Amino acid sequence: MTTRYRVEYALKSHRRDQFIEWIKGLLAVPFVLYSQPTGVFEGQGINNVKMAEEAHRRYAEIMRDVELMIDDHMAHQVEHNPVPSKLKMLVPPIGELFTRLPLEAAFKFQDRKRYISSRRYVAPSFNDVRLILNSAQIMAVTTYGTLQLATFDGDVTLYDDGQALESDSPVIPRLLDLLQKNVKVGIVTAAGYTEAKMYYARLQGLLDAMAASTTLTPTQKQSLIIMGGEANYLFEFDPCSPYLLAPVERERWLTDEMMSWQQDDITALLDVAESALLECVKTLNLPATLLRKDRAVGIIPKEGVKIPRESLEETVLVVQKILEVSISAAATFRDSPKLNRVPFCAFNGGRDVFVDIGDKSWGVAVCQKWFGGGDGKMIKGDNTLHVGDQFLSAGANDFKARSVGTTAWIASPSETVELLDELADLMGKKLAQTS
Ligand code: IMP
Ligand code: MG
Repeated sequence: MTTRYRVEYALKSHRRDQFIEWIKGLLAVPFVLYSQPTGVFEGQGINNVKMAEEAHRRYAEIMRDVELMIDDHMAHQVEHNPVPSKLKMLVPPIGELFTRLPLEAAFKFQDRKRYISSRRYVAPSFNDVRLILNSAQIMAVTTYGTLQLATFDGDVTLYDDGQALESDSPVIPRLLDLLQKNVKVGIVTAAGYTEAKMYYARLQGLLDAMAASTTLTPTQKQSLIIMGGEANYLFEFDPCSPYLLAPVERERWLTDEMMSWQQDDITALLDVAESALLECVKTLNLPATLLRKDRAVGIIPKEGVKIPRESLEETVLVVQKILEVSISAAATFRDSPKLNRVPFCAFNGGRDVFVDIGDKSWGVAVCQKWFGGGDGKMIKGDNTLHVGDQFLSAGANDFKARSVGTTAWIASPSETVELLDELADLMGKKLAQTS
């Protein structure tokens, strides 16, 4: 039994997004019933056109039905209804949603781009559904309200893993365009450095372009911040500072809850994480070096080698489990460190594994507070969009941002560019309607 449970867990739950899988399953039925695999022998005949139209109609109906279920789920949230919504019963991990999702319109938009309904051999996929959800989310943040804050993960979202934002990156003009439209921008990255110089090395293209811009106003230039180490180091764009970034002391930006994180508890938690990581290095014979920082501890591959993906995942799951057990054990002894006061994030960075103090829900919340206008006011979740590549429930660090704002899940910097173009288009249309 235990083994079966562990196999199920290890193979499935942390590597699947259950909401996306569920929608994929719903769309598989019309795919099986209406796709005509023999149609490929008939050229562009009437039957093929009819097939695509029929599949499109059925897929759109399903997306409309899911959209209505989301409306019902949100009504439960608003009423604090103790009875779970139908959606919650069908997809138990579904969490709080900040906006309704126009899934039918988003499906039609993506079907025009990706010809999902015209496919006979490949059913609507995980990526199709992920992109439909992204489109629905950005339609929602621009249509039902106003986007005030956009936060972006770094690696894989703005630049390739381990690389930097070079001056010719197509992401840069799109980020400047957001700032020009008075949207606040936060780069919320796990990369944790205490010095501006290190962030400048990763973000030079963007920072230089901001400094050189003659169209951005001083207020718009002040609307870019870097939140590093998940939620540990804050830098403001500042054209007069060395490396164009001014560090901001913690006292100025910590949220009230974050103020209660004590240094002793942080050190104790990182000590447990460090010994768990070292244990994994030994057990799995990982070609890795330990890296301890003041707010994080990680293992990075030795020069010229790659740690297998399975080993990285195993390490994350083991370390997470050990930390969880230590936290609940520590809570029962009065004089042990209060590990439970300090949230952490253990994640697989693609090449490395890190345990950071805090997580991106705190990082995005700091941005919401920083740009909230003072007096502890925060930009609300439905006016916030976090764009990232890591949204699996375990071992992924953008996932936590879902609890404080709307999110879009991209798989590469070029998808971020497409998403920002879609967003600019929708914001432009909205502007045209209101003017
Ligand atoms: P993100 O995708 O921008 O959140 O960056 C994640 C990557 O940053 C990790 O995979 C690491 O390679 C790198 N990194 C550098 N320093 C740190 C740290 O202190 N904590 C976590 N990740 C770090
Ligand atoms: Mg990333």
